[in-house]
Amino acid sequence: MSELHYRPGLEGIVAGETAISTISDGLRYRGYSIEDLASHAGFEEVAYLILHGALPNAEQLAEFRGRLASGAAVSGHLIDFLRKIPASAGAMDVMRTGASALAHWDPEAGDNSHEANLRKAERLLAQLPTIMAAWHRLRHSQEPVSPDGKFSFAANLLWMLHRAPPKDKFVRAMDVSLTLYAEHEFNASTFTARVVVSTLSDLHSAIAAAIGALKGPLHGGANERVLEVLQQVGSKENAEPWVREALANKVRIMGFGHRVYKAGDPRAAFLKAYCAELAAEKPDDDLEEIAGVIEEIVVGEKGLPPNLDWPSARLYHYMGLPVELYTPLFVVSRVVGWSAHAIEQLDNNRLIRPRSNYTGPGPQAWVAIEDR
Ligand SMILES: CC(C)(COP(=O)(O)OP(=O)(O)OC[C@H]1O[C@@H](n2cnc3c(N)ncnc32)[C@H](O)[C@@H]1OP(=O)(O)O)[C@@H](O)C(=O)NCCC(=O)NCCS
Repeated sequence: MSELHYRPGLEGIVAGETAISTISDGLRYRGYSIEDLASHAGFEEVAYLILHGALPNAEQLAEFRGRLASGAAVSGHLIDFLRKIPASAGAMDVMRTGASALAHWDPEAGDNSHEANLRKAERLLAQLPTIMAAWHRLRHSQEPVSPDGKFSFAANLLWMLHRAPPKDKFVRAMDVSLTLYAEHEFNASTFTARVVVSTLSDLHSAIAAAIGALKGPLHGGANERVLEVLQQVGSKENAEPWVREALANKVRIMGFGHRVYKAGDPRAAFLKAYCAELAAEKPDDDLEEIAGVIEEIVVGEKGLPPNLDWPSARLYHYMGLPVELYTPLFVVSRVVGWSAHAIEQLDNNRLIRPRSNYTGPGPQAWVAIEDR
């Protein structure tokens, strides 16, 4: 086995083909730039585009919204099961369990056809926010709020968390955030989903595995760590000494750097404007100023631009969302990309089974146990 094709972390290695998105010239979903999509489309339109391959017309969009609204309720047995999970469980662990448990009530769980997988993907998209919100409320001794089909996807998600009609500004910000998180080529969690279905396993298994991969702080878990860091820094005055000491100690600053975008993450640049807009309504909060100081120094000293998680954490904070939901919010959006990739993999499947370079000992002579 040649070592020529090996790169740690598969950096720079092409591991498959996709027609879903590209990051070669900015980020595009099915050919459309994320800037155009986030400026003009709602999240449902973007989800339809990614899953079904083309933008919906008005009728297709209305039907899609209808399917998401009518599919959002989850079995009462599943809600009862959530009640029994210890309150100390992590929200991402509950999302992983929830994705897996949804399969038990899905009428097509074992059907791996293209059409059934699209229907299951839509149901997962509809139901994962319900699980996220129900768990969050139960954990805080509040009864779950049923999904309400009169709201958009983003508004319903906020409604189920707070049981209050959400502000238009927050709905728009959530819509943009969900759009930017929806899909991102061969990242670790998406690759995980593709590996799982490449064995001809099912969609729910792929999504549960992808959630496990997303949880880590080098991937989706970074958005929660970002807010923890900003709150730990605490004040604008403390920002510069904190970041200089962190860099001197080679601390990884969450929300900066990216395996592929070395010149900057276009999603972060786009979302920054929404942070500024929501922050303007919170004059007592100096998070934007703290973030500005840290960003300037990390970019200036290390040449590391911020990634999407850097502005996302602040955006969710300004919307009053609790930190433990930041990565689950990533899940409820990225399930779209994961599902599209799983379906694309199955449409033209070849088992994903790479090789490794062996680095262990050479051939050993057997030693009986009494002689060791
Ligand atoms: C995303 C990430 C894993 C990509 O890393 P990568 O492509 O493997 O880059 P490397 O780990 O090889 O890092 C290259 C150099 O930049 C440094 N670096 C990378 N990200 C850094 C960060 N966030 N803070 C400080 N230094 C960082 C590394 O320490 C390394 O420095 P060195 O050459 O002096 O050893 C990495 O940037 C990171 O850990 N970021 C923080 C977590 C995060 O925000 N994740 C969300 C990604 S969307």
